[in-house]
Amino acid sequence: MRKKINIAIDGHSSCGKSTLAKALAKELNYLYIDTGAMYRAITLFALKNNAIKDGELLEDKMKSVLDNAYITFKYDTDSKQVDAYLNGDNVEKEIRSMQVSKHVSVVASLLDVRKKLVRLQQRMAESKGVVMDGRDIGTVVLPDAELKFFMTAELEVRAKRRYNELIDRGIEVSFEEVLDNVKTRDHIDSTREHDPLRQAEDAVVVDNSNLTLDEQFTFIIGQVNKTLEPGTITS
Ligand code: DC
Repeated sequence: MRKKINIAIDGHSSCGKSTLAKALAKELNYLYIDTGAMYRAITLFALKNNAIKDGELLEDKMKSVLDNAYITFKYDTDSKQVDAYLNGDNVEKEIRSMQVSKHVSVVASLLDVRKKLVRLQQRMAESKGVVMDGRDIGTVVLPDAELKFFMTAELEVRAKRRYNELIDRGIEVSFEEVLDNVKTRDHIDSTREHDPLRQAEDAVVVDNSNLTLDEQFTFIIGQVNKTLEPGTITS
């Protein structure tokens, strides 16, 4: 049996990280961990606990309730997807709403939130065999991951993909609203003080503006196979 490794996939909002990460995890029989879903679930928790008022995050309130948020993932045999749970409730659909998307970057900027989720993510990856996607996986959460990808695509391409995804799910939204949200999140995610989105020095860059899913997958699997060649992994 081949040795298991951890694979980190970071990049901008809506550049197809999760689609690729899921396909990769399935191919390798690894565990897929969507860290964006964890920040989204915490944001939903903030909304439900009145820690967001008139669009503003009430930091003290958020800090005082944070210990009561339990986030888990469970495999759904019908949809064959891993769903996010918040305090025992399946929140997979709710966390994809525009309401959550609008506030998630600000909630994800709070140090206490990051500390809590980074700890949890590191525990989940302890046994290796994990494909984890997010913004700070290769730099902060799993700096020792054996393989790191940094994905990106042009802003308009990403917004169009996200728009199509929301429309397909029956969520009413305008393209302008989605474009504006993706642009704002890019800005906040890249400029925040704690663990901003950065490309790890040892990450392989994948700009998929003009690549099909198959092309991306073939490239990524090639990189995985290279990493797993005998003698390549030193630890
Ligand atoms: O991957 P996503 O778009 O579902 O992520 C939602 C937000 O969560 C994103 O705007 C930034 C934040 N996030 C983060 O700060 N760190 C991560 N590792 C993953 C997501």
